[in-house]
Amino acid sequence: MSRTLKGLVLSGGAGTRLRPITHTSAKQLVPVANRPVLFYGLDALHDAGIREVGIIVGDTQAEIQAAVGDGSAFGLEVTYIRQEAPLGLAHAVLTAAEFLGEDPFCMYLGDNLLRDGIRGLVEEFTRSGPEAMILLQHVPNPSAYGVAELDGERVVRLSEKPSEPRSDLALVGVYLFTHAIIEAARRIRPSARGELEITDAIQHLIDQGLRVEPHIVTGWWKDTGKLADMLEANRLVLDVIGHRIQGELTETSIEGRVLIEPGAVLIRSAVRGPAVIGAGARIEEAYIGPYTAISDGCVVRRAEVEHSILLAGSRIEDLDARVEGSLIGKGSTITRAPALPRAYRFLVGDNSDIGIV
Ligand code: DAU
Repeated sequence: MSRTLKGLVLSGGAGTRLRPITHTSAKQLVPVANRPVLFYGLDALHDAGIREVGIIVGDTQAEIQAAVGDGSAFGLEVTYIRQEAPLGLAHAVLTAAEFLGEDPFCMYLGDNLLRDGIRGLVEEFTRSGPEAMILLQHVPNPSAYGVAELDGERVVRLSEKPSEPRSDLALVGVYLFTHAIIEAARRIRPSARGELEITDAIQHLIDQGLRVEPHIVTGWWKDTGKLADMLEANRLVLDVIGHRIQGELTETSIEGRVLIEPGAVLIRSAVRGPAVIGAGARIEEAYIGPYTAISDGCVVRRAEVEHSILLAGSRIEDLDARVEGSLIGKGSTITRAPALPRAYRFLVGDNSDIGIV
């Protein structure tokens, strides 16, 4: 196969599992180590030599477009493809049929993160020339994913989130396809959850006797759709960050690898890396512990935060107990109410999750 691959990034969808964070914003833009998760995928495509990328968008199109622009910041040529509703991954492929034409492509789910990128996989796909290549990883909870059953090097069966999985091999959200998948997607019917499943379309290829190759991913992989996975992805990426201090520090101690962006102000505080502190953040008499990502313009004052993600403009002040394992939404405030009676006072979005000691 000699044609160059295109990229198809899926960035539509509803993002129910990170609610309420994703009620208002795209889940693909939730930051990991202060960078939208989607950007890592775009980098991975570029690194694999892919230049022409279609991004599937839905209701959050404006936000995705504002963040990614024409793609030139990533060395890519980006085309936005509107999907009228999140009707499934195979529906997204059909929506992109015109953009894809006859070319082979790499489909990349915008909320997935792979440590080792995809360059080697694209090379293998191009060399070996199957109809599809699927990425798999052994997981402890396969029923949360698409699951593959292998017979040696052959994929025999795929099922989407089976209640009784027949293996522990989950489908990673990166797929390599020839245009045969488009015809397969036309042939399938919606699943019980009402979606045109890519797993069914790939199964259709298998049933036609076409070659579907498995590739087991050994480096870490995260689907950041849930809070625990998002925090874990943050931890894994922070584990490999560098050390650069550009903010303004007064009586502040820094231990380990820490990135502090220009315009951040830290006063009488302690930061223990790995951690990132965004531009214009203000940290006062506070402790920022390992695996914390503080976005631009946040305030942490007389409080302790660890293993958490604070989204832009959020504020944590005057807390007695340490905040940990938390994802704090944009512009949110957590503070002590000054007036008596001594009481908790909340203004909390739908489906929030708050733990009090
Ligand atoms: O992360 C890996 C898993 O991704 C696989 O194991 C599953 O087989 C696969 O179906 C998929 O499952 P999810 O339930 O995690 O998919 P989700 O609905 O979260 O959608 C994945 C991405 O694709 C997300 O960034 C939103 C986007 N999307 C989703 C749908 C259903 C679209 O752009 N359009 C859609 O219609």
